Amino acid sequence: MCGIVGAVRAGGSRNDVIRGLKLIQYRGYDSAGLCLKEKRDLQIFKAKGVIEKLDEKVPASLATVAIGHTRWATHGQVCEKNAHPIEGGNREWAVVHNGIIENYRTMTDELSGEGVVFKTDTDTEVIAALLALNNFSDPVRNIAWAIKKLQGSYAFCAVKKEEDNVIYAARFKSPLYAFYSGDVAMIASDPVCFPKGDYFKLEDGEICKLSQEKIEFFDASGEPIEKEASPYKKINYIAGKGEFEHFMLKEIYETPDAIRRLAINFMNLDFAKLNKLKFDKVKLIGCGTAYHSCLIGASFMRSFLRVEAEALQASEFRYGSFPISRRTLAIFVSQSGETADTIAALEKAKKKGAKTICLTNVLHSSLAEEGEMVLPISAGPEIAVASTKAYSCQVAALYMLTMALKGEKHFYKSIKQVQDLSRTLKSLFINMSEFAADICQKEKVFFIGKGDDYVTALEGALKLKEISYINCNAYPAGELKHGVLALIENKTPVIVIATDEKVYDKTMNSALEAKSRGAKLYLISNKPPKACELESFEMCLSLPSSPQPLRNILAILPLQLLSYNVSVLRGIDPDKPRNLAKSVTVE
Ligand code: F6R
Repeated sequence: MCGIVGAVRAGGSRNDVIRGLKLIQYRGYDSAGLCLKEKRDLQIFKAKGVIEKLDEKVPASLATVAIGHTRWATHGQVCEKNAHPIEGGNREWAVVHNGIIENYRTMTDELSGEGVVFKTDTDTEVIAALLALNNFSDPVRNIAWAIKKLQGSYAFCAVKKEEDNVIYAARFKSPLYAFYSGDVAMIASDPVCFPKGDYFKLEDGEICKLSQEKIEFFDASGEPIEKEASPYKKINYIAGKGEFEHFMLKEIYETPDAIRRLAINFMNLDFAKLNKLKFDKVKLIGCGTAYHSCLIGASFMRSFLRVEAEALQASEFRYGSFPISRRTLAIFVSQSGETADTIAALEKAKKKGAKTICLTNVLHSSLAEEGEMVLPISAGPEIAVASTKAYSCQVAALYMLTMALKGEKHFYKSIKQVQDLSRTLKSLFINMSEFAADICQKEKVFFIGKGDDYVTALEGALKLKEISYINCNAYPAGELKHGVLALIENKTPVIVIATDEKVYDKTMNSALEAKSRGAKLYLISNKPPKACELESFEMCLSLPSSPQPLRNILAILPLQLLSYNVSVLRGIDPDKPRNLAKSVTVE
């Protein structure tokens, strides 16, 4: 989603901002822009597509102030006109914004009535127009006045033509961080953009003023406030692709090491704190892939703790009516820790008195800041939009957490199992190109399984659809004859996941029913195929042996590789599928 970087540096801040924009590319974007403020002039540059194009357009400059933006379109098409910075008034202000101004239609009508002419299709232009509407002697007043009118979420930074060497910024429900050293003052959506050192996290409703001399903070009415810096945390810097053609492939290959690191990091688990949690219900909450790991987590909790546990999509939990009490343990899972729905769900659960645990890959994220107990996913930076190693780490983390809640003895056994799994996973880096070639021309693909295998089917289908654009759907195997069989035609691919002995034969029966209607079957199971299965399936992949709860992590890896291969064969960039962003910071 959109990313913001601003810098004030004597001698030129252009490169600080371009470098920062490159570091937050992982958030996903479709255009980028930058404003250089040179003396009393705002020079704005914009480009559709990659940052490199913007970099080529922006000249070398000694301008002390620069603000930049990566845009992931929400309001208005992807085009230079709608790329930020957006101007307000008669080029008096330039604004970059992340978030959604929910009342922008009403505000646009109101402001148009006052003679403002809107030039873009963005909600951001309302902010720029509001800032330019008054000429208070102190521009902090303009910001305080403008934010009172805004509803929705925003992190924005703005420069005023008439103000030398200053950036103003404000936030509400979208992340924003500030940094000051004698040499440079910076503002950004992610502290990864800053030089090493302590930084400040803006809270909702706060305003910030950055200049060469100092950094100042104000409350929502523009009154000065004191803020303490967050101590510098080791930030996982983004490494390159190494020998791999794409980040996604590199990240899949990093899974065994990530799992091993996770097991080591989990040894530091605070048992005393964990034991204090008294609960009789568990809700596990996340979005997309993280929601799928919650489904498995809920299954672990039901099976091993015999507790009522359910997984919920954060976007549904946020507005739905789900009974929550002080005896509810709510677990939030998010790779980025910045998913707007997951953060809002955490706030709701806290308000209702639930005990909360957050599992995230980014320990300086908003989720980590707000969680009562934070556990690391330890996957290392994940850049490809499709989550791979983070999913596997989430599942392993939820397994170890469940076992820790069961008791110390169980916990240490689970650590050992996860460590062993890290070795087993390495044997799964197999060539999936033939399987991919079979799938890549299809219009639809079905994934089926029972119990935890159904969750693998869901995650396999999500992975394949998001990076191949093939219509993929997952169903519990037993549901086929309740409607889905109507969609099975000659040679429709059905990928069958069967790693649970208890329901193996049941899954096979459902698969064969699909075959009788013309389906082409592919099998991922935990045991070598029988002769009759070899006859019925185009391909049988047997997973190495592992404890049943961890088989989901083994089964998903070949499916991730399959999705990657199909994506490449279809000429798609698997790292940046269309219309998707890595970090979903708006609702
Ligand atoms: C799919 C994918 C998304 C994310 C979802 C939540 O491959 O990556 O479905 O899982 O947007 O993101 P996080 O985990 O950052 O909260």
